[in-house]
Amino acid sequence: MQLLLAVATSEFWPNNPMRRLIQRVSPAAAPPLPSLLLVAAVGVLLVLAAHRSSFFDTTSAWSGARRPSRARNSTTAGGRVPKGCDLFRGEWVPDGGGGGAPYYTNRSCPHIQEHQNCLKYGRPDRGFLRWRWRPAGCDLPRFDAAAFLRSFRGRSLAFVGDSLARNHMQSLMCLLSKVEYPKDISKTPHSEFSTMLYESHNFTMAIFWSPFLVKANKSGDQWHLHLDEPDDAWLAGIPGFDYVVLSAANWFTRPSMFIEAGRVVGCHICLVPGVADLTLRYSQRMALRTALRALTGVFNGTVVLRTLSPTSHFEGGEWDKGGDCRRTRPYAANETRMAGLDLDMHTVQVEEFARAKVAAAARMVLMDTTAAMLLRPDGHPSRYGHWANQNVTLYNDCVHWCLPGPIDVWNEMLFQILLPD
Ligand SMILES: *[C@@H]1O[C@H](CO)[C@@H](O)[C@H](O)[C@H]1NC(C)=O
Ligand SMILES: *[C@@H]1O[C@H](CO)[C@@H](O)[C@H](O)[C@H]1NC(C)=O
Ligand SMILES: *[C@@H]1O[C@H](CO)[C@@H](O)[C@H](O)[C@H]1NC(C)=O
Ligand SMILES: *[C@@H]1O[C@H](CO)[C@@H](O)[C@H](O)[C@H]1NC(C)=O
Ligand SMILES: *[C@@H]1O[C@H](CO)[C@@H](O)[C@H](O)[C@H]1NC(C)=O
Ligand SMILES: *[C@@H]1O[C@H](CO)[C@@H](O)[C@H](O)[C@H]1NC(C)=O
Ligand SMILES: *[C@@H]1O[C@H](CO)[C@@H](O)[C@H](O)[C@H]1NC(C)=O
Repeated sequence: MQLLLAVATSEFWPNNPMRRLIQRVSPAAAPPLPSLLLVAAVGVLLVLAAHRSSFFDTTSAWSGARRPSRARNSTTAGGRVPKGCDLFRGEWVPDGGGGGAPYYTNRSCPHIQEHQNCLKYGRPDRGFLRWRWRPAGCDLPRFDAAAFLRSFRGRSLAFVGDSLARNHMQSLMCLLSKVEYPKDISKTPHSEFSTMLYESHNFTMAIFWSPFLVKANKSGDQWHLHLDEPDDAWLAGIPGFDYVVLSAANWFTRPSMFIEAGRVVGCHICLVPGVADLTLRYSQRMALRTALRALTGVFNGTVVLRTLSPTSHFEGGEWDKGGDCRRTRPYAANETRMAGLDLDMHTVQVEEFARAKVAAAARMVLMDTTAAMLLRPDGHPSRYGHWANQNVTLYNDCVHWCLPGPIDVWNEMLFQILLPD
């Protein structure tokens, strides 16, 4: 049991080893060799974990859950921001409590992944729940579950990506649990490919596991990324959905060979003679380009590209060297700025989004959450994603987000984004 937890926890592990390194490296340059070796070593640890059964571990929580209560009346909920307001530039301000955040608890929401159930595992402070995101040019309305379900009646939404896509979807299910619990109508027993139906609103939500978005294949400790072949695990399922939220970033830090047209064209931390280390900046860019091109070729709904969740919140060490995120309040906007790997990956996403949009028939929206989340080092599970256990080494999680927690803002933003122009 303890071992399982350790494995499952590390399954979705990040690239935090990169943090230090990144601050020393200029955006275009390849990392220096000692860092490469460090990252390679960590990468080996990362890929050891292949256990996925806890992806949607919700059944156990059901028993203790209350049935949904009726939606809370809030005069500020469910509104629409003025056209032209940039939702993604702003600051976190103390929540006056007008709408009663947090929106849900681990009792009202049965969909919280164990490792993000921070209060269950003893997180002592609650202050991280009492902030709201205020865009510079307008107010972001509170999440109104009833309005959301009403607005998207008969519609379907797909999340595609890694465990942060799952974190996002579980936040949305928790927010909606005020009004309705979904029925699991998944076609496969694999929880990474779940489909949920909100029967009384005929709203469908699904998740497709594809951490690289392109075909990927693990051989030994190394991933083989087919950078010019979209991953059919999601692409084949997407037509017919109205909205798709695409995201990917963290897994590109793992050691990988890059394959194009069936040939090895380079790698990230492979240390194979004759194979150029093109760095993860190359694989992330090419994979995203391939995914967006393929998607816009088969899909005529709304494409949302969510930018990366910061990889840089570990302090005091790397993820496996005692690094942790113990802050209890957000940064002010002048206390941090996007840098290093976060900045590089973000730049790639913004550029590839713009490139795809020019050519796309689909409606495309960039969900640019990185800057807002960069200010929330206080929103991660840290060591409260599990009980302390003396027999196994469990790492601090500064990558995923507690539920409830700041990630709930992604759905306040998503609601605004999905509303038709
Ligand atoms: C919600 O509150 C507002 C202001 O207090 C009130 O005018 C409105 O009737 C309420 N709506 C519902 C559905 O209770
Ligand atoms: C919910 O969190 C509380 C602490 O606030 C904890 O005691 C309880 O076990 C948790 N319940 C569930 C179902 O996760
Ligand atoms: C539910 O929505 C789907 C589209 O997502 C539509 O095809 C179907 O007819 C709807 N079902 C009902 C019962 O309204
Ligand atoms: C995965 O990699 C192995 C060995 O590198 C190869 O034989 C196999 O065909 C690959 N599978 C896919 C689906 O690419
Ligand atoms: C979108 O594509 C579907 C088939 O994938 C088609 O039924 C539908 O009419 C298309 N909608 C528009 C607006 O082109
Ligand atoms: C950030 O700005 C606040 C005022 O908004 C100021 O009080 C504080 O000293 C600034 N901090 C830094 C690190 O510049
Ligand atoms: C942890 O280790 C101690 C001492 O080695 C042992 O007595 C105990 O049973 C172990 N606990 C678990 C849950 O494995």
